[in-house]
Amino acid sequence: MNPKIYFDNGSTSWPKAPQVASSMSELLESGAFNINRGNYEGAYELESLVLLTRMQLARLFHAPDSRHVIFTPGITYSLNYLIKGLLRPGDHVLVSSLEHNAVMRPLCQLASQDIHYTMIPAETDGTTQPESVEALIRPETKAVIMLHASNVCGTILPIREIGDICRRHHLFFAVDTAQSAGSVDIDMQECNIDFLAFTGHKGLLGPQGIGGFLISEALDHELTPLIAGGTGSQSDSLLMPDYLPDKYESGTMNLPGIIGLHAALTYLEEAGIPAIHQKKMELTGYFLKRIHEIPQAHIAGKQTIQNRLAVISLDFPEYDNAEIAFSLEQDYGIMTRVGLHCAPMAHQALHTMPHGTIRFAFSHFNTTEEINCCIDGLRELLSV
Ligand code: ALA
Repeated sequence: MNPKIYFDNGSTSWPKAPQVASSMSELLESGAFNINRGNYEGAYELESLVLLTRMQLARLFHAPDSRHVIFTPGITYSLNYLIKGLLRPGDHVLVSSLEHNAVMRPLCQLASQDIHYTMIPAETDGTTQPESVEALIRPETKAVIMLHASNVCGTILPIREIGDICRRHHLFFAVDTAQSAGSVDIDMQECNIDFLAFTGHKGLLGPQGIGGFLISEALDHELTPLIAGGTGSQSDSLLMPDYLPDKYESGTMNLPGIIGLHAALTYLEEAGIPAIHQKKMELTGYFLKRIHEIPQAHIAGKQTIQNRLAVISLDFPEYDNAEIAFSLEQDYGIMTRVGLHCAPMAHQALHTMPHGTIRFAFSHFNTTEEINCCIDGLRELLSV
C-alpha cells in the first residue's frame, strides 16, 4: 500500500494546523454555547475568543480595526454578499481573466438586471498588465473584483498597482485571497482594498466552512446586507443594525469553525508565514525543476518560480489528464485535482479549455521525497 501524498492544498489544506481539531472538539465537548445571546460566563468567554480571532485577522490583513472583520462560511458567500449587495441596474465592473466561478456565476446571475462586466485581458501565461485596466473603465464602472492569485496556475496578479488605479478612479476594489492568504503579506490599506474575501480552510490551515471578508468604511456605507435576521443586538428593531460587524452577521455563527481558525492563526503567527511560504516555494521550485524530465508535461501558465504561489497545473496534451490523475492516485497514492477547478475563464485564458489540467498544490507539510515519488511515478506512467 502506497503512503498517501496530498498535493491538493489549492482545494483545501491538509493536514490542518496542529490544535485545530482538538480546539474544535474541546469546544463542542465542554460548552458549545452561543455568543451575543446567552448572558453567562461560558458565552462571554467564547465571545472573547471570537474577538481575538477578529483581531488576528485584522492584524494579518492590516485592517483599520477588528470591527471590520466579518465572518461568513467562506469566499463564495462573501463574494455573493458583495456582488449582490453592491451592484445596481446599470452598474459595470471589471474582473480579471482568471476568475473563479465564485465571481463569474453571481455576476452572470445579474446580467438580466442590466449589470455587466468586462474582463481585464491576461497573457497566455496568466500574467495581467495593470496598464490595460484604465482603458476599460467606463462612467458606470463601480468596482474591480479580482482574485489575488490564480487557483489554476498560481500566478500572482498585480493588486497593488490595480488598487492604485481604483484609488485614482474612485472605484471600489475587491480582492479574493483564496490562494494567497497565509502565503504572502496582504495589506488592505496599502493596496487600497475595500473588500478582502478570505477563507479559513486553505493557506490559513483552518477548518472548512469558515471564512469572511474585511470591509472598508467607504464600502460599508454603500453595501446592503444580503442576509437579514437575528443578531442578538437591537432586537427591538425590525431592521438590521447599521454598525459593524452586526450589520453583516445574522444568524448563529459557525463558532466551532471560528475557534478552529483561531488555533490555525495562532499557529501561523508562531511558525511565521514567511518561513512557511519559503518552504512551499522551495518545494515548488524543486517540482518545476524536475518536471522538465518529463517532455510530455506542459506547464499551464507561468513556467518559472517568480511571482507565483505553490500551485502548478500540468497538461499532458497527448494523454487524458483525468486518466493520469487517476493512476497517480491509484498506483502512487498521490492526490491532485484534475479538471477545470471551477475556473473555466482561467482555463480559457491559459488555452487549457475544455480538457483542463492536473493541479499540484503544495503545503509546507509536504516533502521533497513526496515530490520525488510523484515525478518518478509520472516517469513510470509515461515510460520516460
Ligand atoms: N476553488 C477551489 C479549488 O481551486 C475549491 O480547488
